[in-house]
Amino acid sequence: MSPTPSPIPSPIATAQQALDAEPQSIDAPLSAAAAFLILVVKDDEASLATARDVVGSTDDLVKDVRIRANGGVFTCNVGISHRAWGPLTGKPAPRELAPFKEVRGAKHTAVATAGDLLYHIRADSTGVIVEFEKLLLEAFGDAATAIDDVAGFRYFDGRDLLEFVDGTANPDGLDLPEATIVGSEDPAYAGGSYVVIQKYLHDLSAWRAQSVETQQGIIGRNKFDNTELPDATEGQKSHKTLCTIEDADGEHDILRDNMPFAVPGRGEYGTYFIGYCRHLWVIDRMLERMFVGDPPPLHDRILDFSKAVAGVTFFAPARKFLSGLAD
Ligand code: HEM
Repeated sequence: MSPTPSPIPSPIATAQQALDAEPQSIDAPLSAAAAFLILVVKDDEASLATARDVVGSTDDLVKDVRIRANGGVFTCNVGISHRAWGPLTGKPAPRELAPFKEVRGAKHTAVATAGDLLYHIRADSTGVIVEFEKLLLEAFGDAATAIDDVAGFRYFDGRDLLEFVDGTANPDGLDLPEATIVGSEDPAYAGGSYVVIQKYLHDLSAWRAQSVETQQGIIGRNKFDNTELPDATEGQKSHKTLCTIEDADGEHDILRDNMPFAVPGRGEYGTYFIGYCRHLWVIDRMLERMFVGDPPPLHDRILDFSKAVAGVTFFAPARKFLSGLAD
């Protein structure tokens, strides 16, 4: 008897699968302005129902505002934390989703802080972001409280406030979805992405007291032309080297869209770190190497000038999953 031929996948089923797994705007280009809005949702059923509805209607609100932005960039990604996942979605959590793990090194700590929802909003200008946030927070009403709202801006040459170009080694082309979008390893959540945020405050006067050579050694790149410095083979490693994760499967990338933020009148200068990844363990490993050191206790010297004051992990599900939460 001849073997039964395997069924040819129907083009409609394939198209449907692709639609179900369409990611949010993870790959949006680096923008001139951004906001990182962190919300905590109240635990009562009425608040959860409101939050479900608002979160599920995000795409509609984005459209309402985007059309008024006269064709400029305007995107918004929503992430849901481990604590809020069950109550908000009623579904089991994505495979790797867990609360942000505090990483305690000999000298510095990556603190874990509160947060149920992340709104990562990117646009050409702050005005449109403020308009969106105003409408969004009105829609949440008393159901959620904003516990942080950081306005990021693009600094000269795409530099952070330590004055180094930030974002260079980000994956692009086909490497980008490969590094950031969950696939068949977790079919129920294909199209989603793990998102980690950390808020860092810089001690700029201490940083500026360092020679450019010392700063370059800490980052691992030339300050002026952004070219890479060779990796140290032993002893103190640069930030770039500590954040390069390699194993038998090759190098594991993440996508960063860090933004500087500042309130000069209060002496506040910082970097808001945001990393999107397909496998959460990759960012966990980077944090371990930065804070504990490789080898311990040789931590990332960027931390001697940058204090982590917030840290939360989220999952940004596929677009269709998100819109399915609305009534
Ligand atoms: C104070 C906060 C931080 C600042 C100012 C900062 C800045 C930078 C700069 C200037 C570079 C070199 C250029 C580039 O490739 O973008 C870099 C590389 C990188 N950073 Fe950070 N970073 C910060 C925190 C983090 C954190 C918390 C992580 C991950 C948990 C991270 C992951 C990476 C990765 C993956 C690279 C690229 C490494 C490679 O060359 O392959 N960074 N960062």
